[in-house]
Amino acid sequence: MIPALLAHGRATPTCGRRKKEGGSSIPPYSPTLCTAAGAAISAFLIQTPARLFDMAIERTFSILKPDATRRNLTGAVNAKIEQAGLRIVAQKRVRMTRDQAETFYSVHSARPFFGELVDSMIAGPVVVQVLEGENAIKTYRDVMGATNPANADAGTIRKEFAVSVGENTVHGSDAPETAAIEIAQWFAGNEIVG
Ligand code: CMP
Repeated sequence: MIPALLAHGRATPTCGRRKKEGGSSIPPYSPTLCTAAGAAISAFLIQTPARLFDMAIERTFSILKPDATRRNLTGAVNAKIEQAGLRIVAQKRVRMTRDQAETFYSVHSARPFFGELVDSMIAGPVVVQVLEGENAIKTYRDVMGATNPANADAGTIRKEFAVSVGENTVHGSDAPETAAIEIAQWFAGNEIVG
């Protein structure tokens, strides 16, 4: 709409010759400046859709782990997530079965901590979520902090809330491929409301 207004000269009234009372005209303030400003505004508006397309709006998968639900921290953790600019577009509180936990963390099945990890994930309810936003995967990983809270930066979820590397309060996907798999394990498409 604004480019159309510019094209018709209605959005830049001081760029044209203005009529004085009585019928004679006065010169524009600066034809060169007006033309340049108009062109810059037009270029910005024309490029805006491209800027929007360039923005990497992603979804990532999030778990608020049993140590978060046990200590009544889900609101405090989600406040940090939302303050980081991420939107919770799907959410449910569930009790993971051992099978579900083993499937979810199957990539770690050969690790010495696998048994302890599965036990901790089924020790209480969890909140599974889908988060959406610009560069959501990295944004969420940044706000979570390092896996081991001892190495997490100040202000991150794990630095503020985690108990230990095993009870580190939150999980987040590490890549677009894993985000897609993890989201599909817990949510049907129609449960995600962006
Ligand atoms: P998460 O981001 O959910 O991904 C895998 C989880 O394994 C990780 O968080 C930790 O909770 C857990 N984990 C990683 N390393 C260890 C470890 N050395 N001991 C116990 N648990 C671990």
